[in-house]
Amino acid sequence: MLSMPLSSSSSVEGLRSDHLSPPSWRFAASSGGASPSPESSTPAFHEPVMAKEVLTAFASCGSGVIVDATVGAGGHAAIILREKQGVTLLGLDRDREALQAAARVLKPFGKRAILVKDSFDHLSPVVRAHEPSKKVIGVLFDLGVSSMQIDRPERGFSYMRSGPLDMRMDRSNPLTAEQIVNSWPVEELERLFRLNGEVSLSRRISAAVVAARPLESTGELADVVARAVPARSRRRPGHPAKRVFQAIRRAVNEEDRMLSDGLEQAIELLDSGGRCVVLSYHSSEDRAVKAAFAHAASGGCTCPAGLPCVCGAVGVVRVITKGALKPQPDEVAANSRAASARLRIAERLDRARRSS
Ligand SMILES: C[S@@+](CC[C@H](N)C(=O)[O-])C[C@H]1O[C@@H](n2cnc3c(N)ncnc32)[C@H](O)[C@@H]1O
Repeated sequence: MLSMPLSSSSSVEGLRSDHLSPPSWRFAASSGGASPSPESSTPAFHEPVMAKEVLTAFASCGSGVIVDATVGAGGHAAIILREKQGVTLLGLDRDREALQAAARVLKPFGKRAILVKDSFDHLSPVVRAHEPSKKVIGVLFDLGVSSMQIDRPERGFSYMRSGPLDMRMDRSNPLTAEQIVNSWPVEELERLFRLNGEVSLSRRISAAVVAARPLESTGELADVVARAVPARSRRRPGHPAKRVFQAIRRAVNEEDRMLSDGLEQAIELLDSGGRCVVLSYHSSEDRAVKAAFAHAASGGCTCPAGLPCVCGAVGVVRVITKGALKPQPDEVAANSRAASARLRIAERLDRARRSS
């Protein structure tokens, strides 16, 4: 039985995975009552990316709490719990179905796994509510969408398999892809595609989308984009709609704002020597992580590069990865979704020394 209802709209919802009876939980969580939602009939699977590198990143961290800010199907979380005996894992996700999958995977770890439905821009209150007394020795962000989300056309993330224009990770959010596609002015769409998706023919594509309104499915949107680009672009590897979909998804889920808020809170929460580990899958996301770590390392120093700091800024982390780590070729060969992964690590500096 559930200890706390998952349907609550409160900002913090929590449960321990050993409190779950997976099948009844799975169906109780659907808004329609006893019957499972269609997507819950698809087996949940997501291959954790750069798992060895993530474990190595946390190897120097002792006992305490590791926060998995994007627990997804619980792949990384299970590996961390298996390999690090002194660790309690606090896993967040804003996708109810992801948490259901994580609860099944993490059930064997009993009270060592705590799952919370929330988004990582609420990291600090979630940690305060669930693990106020233990040291936070690590925070993991594995950004973007999971295979479970992409592979289910009804979630509306896929340009390969048509579904409704949804793309919400948290289905209680009011903004959907449909609203952006069918009601944003052409200038805003163009800006979104250019800035959020680095789409090269953003003007042409946004005009084509507006001309084709109303669009009802991801399949229709993918076709409109494919028809809007010249034949030579269609012949390039990768679907021409990939970046357009990425841009819309990032806007629907407010991914840029969430990332900067989440990283700031993660760094603040870490105990001395604790590590923030981030996996990103898009160049602009990786740039944002690099910039956030550099800012935390310099303490926001504004002095000219190469000169001694006189502005009084105090750095709070050491950046462990000079450049982003990439997956090994054998991992990319086995899991094509790992191809674009970039991993960065920052370590919290000694708090006691800084305040003395
Ligand atoms: C790449 S998957 C994580 C997979 C996970 N590491 C595993 O091994 O199974 C990313 C997950 O992050 C979740 N997510 C994305 N943005 C989030 C946010 N701001 N707050 C909480 N969860 C988020 C998504 O719903 C998705 O389930």
